[in-house]
Amino acid sequence: MNIIVVKNAEQGAKEAFALFEKAHQNGAKVFGLATGGTPVSLYGLIRESALSFEDCVSINLDEYVGLSKDNAHSYDAYMREHLFNAKPFKQSFLPDGLASEETEVARYERVLQENPIDFQLLGLGTNAHIGFNEPGTPFTQRTHKVALTQATITANKRYFEKEEDVPRYAYSMGLQSIMDAKEIVLMAYGEKKANAIFDMIEGPVTEDVPASILQTHGNVTVIIDEAAAALLSSENQ
Ligand code: PGA
Repeated sequence: MNIIVVKNAEQGAKEAFALFEKAHQNGAKVFGLATGGTPVSLYGLIRESALSFEDCVSINLDEYVGLSKDNAHSYDAYMREHLFNAKPFKQSFLPDGLASEETEVARYERVLQENPIDFQLLGLGTNAHIGFNEPGTPFTQRTHKVALTQATITANKRYFEKEEDVPRYAYSMGLQSIMDAKEIVLMAYGEKKANAIFDMIEGPVTEDVPASILQTHGNVTVIIDEAAAALLSSENQ
């Protein structure tokens, strides 16, 4: 893993933008995108840039089950607000939160097979999830329906009026679907991510730590601030 430690999230967004831009210049056509608080400033830099995605495809990691794309809490709405309204892609794929599990899992796997991901952006859960792949998810998992853990529900309730409003299920690309990406860039900021960062980078590769599978991928860059890097041994800081 290539590890970049920055002062703060703003610097991290600049590093991630540079990698995004380089991939785009080198001909990447399929971008795997993430939601959450972490990529917000990166998307701001992309919106302000001269990059055009009109001949590119985007594929998002996940979507809440039960929310329509018009629901303000859906990841579809998030992506339109933070990126797609300003920078439309030729085609943008997100799981359909209203579709049945059987239909949606098959459709998304077809999308991934027809559009192999060149560049995958990831955030990191406090429990080391990537996408909505919670601890215990098999490394061989492809797109699936996930029951969110309490840690994830707690972490995401800040986006909702109350905890009961957080959906309990999501559709998510699986760990194997993520590992198929040619290049992966993961960002994580803040003290609350320090344990997950330590386990992901220096712990054993285990299904208890979903992100630890990234140790076995040949082209991963991890961008973290000093707070998230705090538990790493000195050669990784
Ligand atoms: P966050 O979420 O960017 O809102 O911290 C990351 C994640 O859960 O993957």
